[in-house]
Amino acid sequence: MKQQHQTIRNIGVLTSGGDAPGMNAAIRAVVRGGIHDGFHVYGIRRGFHGLWRGDIDDLNGQSVSERLQRGGTFLMTARSATFNSPEGVQKAIEMAKVFNIDAIVTIGGDGTFRGARDLARQGMPVIGIPATIDNDIACSDYTIGYDTALNTAMEAIDKLRDTAMSHERCSVIEVMGRKAGYLALNVGIACGAEVIVIPEVELNFERDVIKVILQGRNSGKHHYIVIVAEGAGSASEMAQKIESVAGIEARATILGHLQRGGSPTNRDRTMASMMALQAIECLREGRLNRIIAYKNGSILDLDIEEALKAEKTIDAAEIARAGILSARRNF
Ligand code: F6P
Repeated sequence: MKQQHQTIRNIGVLTSGGDAPGMNAAIRAVVRGGIHDGFHVYGIRRGFHGLWRGDIDDLNGQSVSERLQRGGTFLMTARSATFNSPEGVQKAIEMAKVFNIDAIVTIGGDGTFRGARDLARQGMPVIGIPATIDNDIACSDYTIGYDTALNTAMEAIDKLRDTAMSHERCSVIEVMGRKAGYLALNVGIACGAEVIVIPEVELNFERDVIKVILQGRNSGKHHYIVIVAEGAGSASEMAQKIESVAGIEARATILGHLQRGGSPTNRDRTMASMMALQAIECLREGRLNRIIAYKNGSILDLDIEEALKAEKTIDAAEIARAGILSARRNF
């Protein structure tokens, strides 16, 4: 990696990848914290794609007022294919130089951090702030947007339970999470799901789904909630199989992008604000090419290359506890 010697004066901030509730709170804190510490802050619209195209404008304290409570990202976001080549990275760095941007704060998930690392390797200092509803950033116990998405999904599933109960049906609900099962597992616990299907655990359909549902029925249950993480399969296929094998009427619902919207919860606003101030502290103190992380109850920063090598798995104990709470043994 190239050495950084220049003083940081002008910083850019962008959001990239899937939006997450709390991204606006993070941008606001980068801007207000940055201005407090004497930085000039540029907003880069539409993620790396916007950086590449010079879609860049000044931000000030006023431009981020009334943003804290809003979902989405007012800087907008994109999944940039053009950026993913050495030429794309070079062009993005040249465009940053046009605006005298000395460092870039990137807010997003795994793909965003890989893009940031590519910039860092070519000499553009970066700081990454984890924001994705999937909570799947290995180096951090928490990602901005996760709590809001959990609550949004929970409210939707509570409503689905009302109708499943009235019709004595099995409601099979597919939640987001990409290749990870955090959202599914934790919303499943919060909603009292009978079955939670996640990519981290191999599924035996007869034992883990059919038998569990039938045991529930035989001990007096009349409706069932099955949560399927999108990375583990399809709710529609699962509903069809349950209906044909168990003979219980089943309906599938894909919660989809509604899980990404809405006003961020207190946790997401606070976490976003504090993580962003940590990013500004890194820039002020010359700790460059860092990822902000939440670890064991504290916000800290890690070297980007090291952070991207980390691996994350779901705690086996949490999975086991979800099983204890389901109806299968003790309803
Ligand atoms: O990473 C966030 C996420 O919402 C995933 O849970 C989901 O798989 C993906 O993004 C959907 O992406 P898109 O918005 O491109 O459809």
